[in-house]
Amino acid sequence: MKLNWAERWVVNNPIRVLEQRLQMSWFKARAPLDRGGIILEIGAGRGAGASLILREFHPSVLHASDLDYDMIRRAKDYLSPGERARISLITADATHLPYRDQALDAVFGFGFLHHVPEWRAALDEVARILKGGGIYFMEELYPSLYQNCITRHLLVHPTEDRFRSADLRIALKERGFRMEAAAETRHVGILAILRKD
Ligand SMILES: C[S@@+](CC[C@H](N)C(=O)[O-])C[C@H]1O[C@@H](n2cnc3c(N)ncnc32)[C@H](O)[C@@H]1O
Repeated sequence: MKLNWAERWVVNNPIRVLEQRLQMSWFKARAPLDRGGIILEIGAGRGAGASLILREFHPSVLHASDLDYDMIRRAKDYLSPGERARISLITADATHLPYRDQALDAVFGFGFLHHVPEWRAALDEVARILKGGGIYFMEELYPSLYQNCITRHLLVHPTEDRFRSADLRIALKERGFRMEAAAETRHVGILAILRKD
């Protein structure tokens, strides 16, 4: 589901970049990937996360995808020409990703999954395209944050079948993900490193 004007303002904001820098340091301290991997960021928005992934994890190939072509267009403007040359930007739905089975070393997802009505199908896709031993770096939010009495009037999200901590953990386990590290704020969201068996 595409973002409305209010959430576009929240994510296309320098404060969001600072937050993502801290999250990236947290990820890197706990799961430093080998250089030269093949990495995908799903729901990449305007590309701030992809720029940080390039700098911190030095992939040989970095794909950055988003459902919304307007976000991909913003990423083309946001990234420097050097970064642009090293990132393949594509418009794609997380529930139908155009990658072969077990093609990727790592997947990053900063706050995209709670925008997907069929979020379990998106997790199926992440599990399908990751190699055995590959890592899913995840930041996700829970409905008490984005669908409370205030935010439900400001933001637009799917309303049915929303995941909270327990639902998410069960769905990840069912798809063969082992949680190697997590920082969770009750009812708010989670930052996690998940290794595919
Ligand atoms: C909250 S924004 C996060 C953007 C960026 N990752 C960040 O952290 O600043 C969620 C992003 O997921 C994208 N998105 C929503 N549904 C999607 C889907 N089904 N497949 C891929 N991307 C999706 C939105 O267009 C949006 O850019």
